[in-house]
Amino acid sequence: MKLLVLIAVVAAAAAQQTPRTSVPHREQFRVIYEWRTIDFEWESQTDRETYLNTSRYIPQNVLISGINFYGDNIFLTLPRMLDGVPATLAYIPAYQNDTTAPKLKPFPSWSDNNIGNCDALQFVQNVEIDRNGIMWILDNGRVGTLTQNPSTKCPPSIVLIDLKSGENKIERIPLSQDTVNPSTTYLNDLVVDNRDGDYAYITDNSAVDPGIIVFRLSDKKSWKLRDKKSMTSVPEAALFRLNGTTVNLPVNIDGIALGPQFLTEDENVDRTVYFCPLASFHLYAINASVLRNESLATKNDGALRPYIVDLGTKASQTDGMKMDSTGVLFFGLIGSSTIAEWNTTVDFSAGQRTIARDPNYIQWIDRFTFDDRGNVYVIINRLYNFVKNQVSVEEVNYRILRSYTGLKSYIHSEDLKPPSPPQNAAATKTIAASMLVFALALLFA
Ligand SMILES: *[C@@H]1O[C@H](CO)[C@@H](O)[C@H](O)[C@H]1NC(C)=O
Ligand SMILES: *[C@@H]1O[C@H](CO)[C@@H](O)[C@H](O)[C@H]1NC(C)=O
Ligand SMILES: *[C@@H]1O[C@H](CO)[C@@H](O)[C@H](O)[C@H]1NC(C)=O
Ligand SMILES: *[C@@H]1O[C@H](CO)[C@@H](O)[C@H](O)[C@H]1NC(C)=O
Ligand SMILES: *[C@@H]1O[C@H](CO)[C@@H](O)[C@H](O)[C@H]1NC(C)=O
Ligand SMILES: *[C@@H]1O[C@H](CO)[C@@H](O)[C@H](O)[C@H]1NC(C)=O
Repeated sequence: MKLLVLIAVVAAAAAQQTPRTSVPHREQFRVIYEWRTIDFEWESQTDRETYLNTSRYIPQNVLISGINFYGDNIFLTLPRMLDGVPATLAYIPAYQNDTTAPKLKPFPSWSDNNIGNCDALQFVQNVEIDRNGIMWILDNGRVGTLTQNPSTKCPPSIVLIDLKSGENKIERIPLSQDTVNPSTTYLNDLVVDNRDGDYAYITDNSAVDPGIIVFRLSDKKSWKLRDKKSMTSVPEAALFRLNGTTVNLPVNIDGIALGPQFLTEDENVDRTVYFCPLASFHLYAINASVLRNESLATKNDGALRPYIVDLGTKASQTDGMKMDSTGVLFFGLIGSSTIAEWNTTVDFSAGQRTIARDPNYIQWIDRFTFDDRGNVYVIINRLYNFVKNQVSVEEVNYRILRSYTGLKSYIHSEDLKPPSPPQNAAATKTIAASMLVFALALLFA
């Protein structure tokens, strides 16, 4: 099948361009793979039949949600929201010429995807692969979340797989009971911060207790930070209208992204964490140093409020988003079938750029990833049809789009070190002061 070229609206926003911003050249997005329904590489044809006969494989119930990249492979997550999803994590080759419906290989194996076995994966919404080749998997442990009878099989856990060794051994780390509730927690998305013991910042879009869960790998401790105002859905953003379908999805905190390192005025290294509820038009920011402060987890609602910045509004709602290593954020604007970017060194309201818009091909932008060749990838999955139980197996329902940006994931962003004890106190002061001005200009311009 021929590659489809999408309408790219590069620099469409030229009128609102500020003199400070250069609009980067962006290649058009192309479809690299597409599927009507998801099928797998089975161990035998009999296996496939058995799974079909026993409703352990119901093709229209398998939805691609998350995407990540390692080596020559693209990893895809298949959350078990409905019955009949035989594997929840799988992979396909990243580079091949045929765009038509590649079969997915369960990862690490078929048996590592067995429902009810707590050594295996149960319900994976998203994964991240850090700069040390460690895959961090969010496993909710609960399956059938969109059915009448969701079933908790195993405790919500972080599952680690060291991809470098090739052995793909699973290490499962259940999150502590004070952090998660097995019947309501919904581990949605994460970023990994490979500093000081390796942290994950995880969005929990629980309907009853949304928040950001912080997990520190070095001592396997976790805690949860809450802020109702910025982490809860709002009614005016809960309706999604796409191609004649309207869905009501009052989903809480969802997308999350991690900015490059910066030096604070008191010469510490920090990073900005960006997040948004699915049902919201706002983008919020908080510094990683605040999330790492465990004592804020036990405080009442409002304790976090002074540290959260509302960066302003977007034209539509956003599901997944991803930062590159230089601080450019890629995100979807679901209701307007648009892929957008924002250079975080520029004010949010003036700096958002449309890079692709196409109602025929961009129908629910879910997650993004980068490979190591400068490409950005997007998952399109028509989630609105899936949640309304109106998936048509005669139409293309899932696509992976790709565009060359020349950039890499935030995972590879530069390490900063606090300056060594000042030789020249005056010079250090000047640097610190200009950093402060810079940070203020960025947030309040
Ligand atoms: C699946 O069901 C069909 C129809 O009932 C039957 O012919 C077939 O033998 C079954 N296959 C397996 C592997 O059970
Ligand atoms: C894809 O096509 C290109 C050029 O047509 C060719 O050079 C390359 O080897 C092909 N790759 C694969 C994996 O078939
Ligand atoms: C993060 O910290 C910097 C420097 O300490 C500060 O200027 C900035 O406002 C903070 N950002 C947020 C989102 O709070
Ligand atoms: C953590 O937050 C508390 C407020 O709850 C504050 O008193 C303390 O200084 C913070 N610690 C650090 C290391 O920022
Ligand atoms: C982001 O903005 C900064 C400052 O304007 C600029 O130096 C940088 O090149 C921009 N990055 C991209 C990818 O356009
Ligand atoms: C829009 O919906 C109609 C009716 O369900 C369907 O036939 C058509 O393929 C959809 N078009 C797009 C671009 O999704």
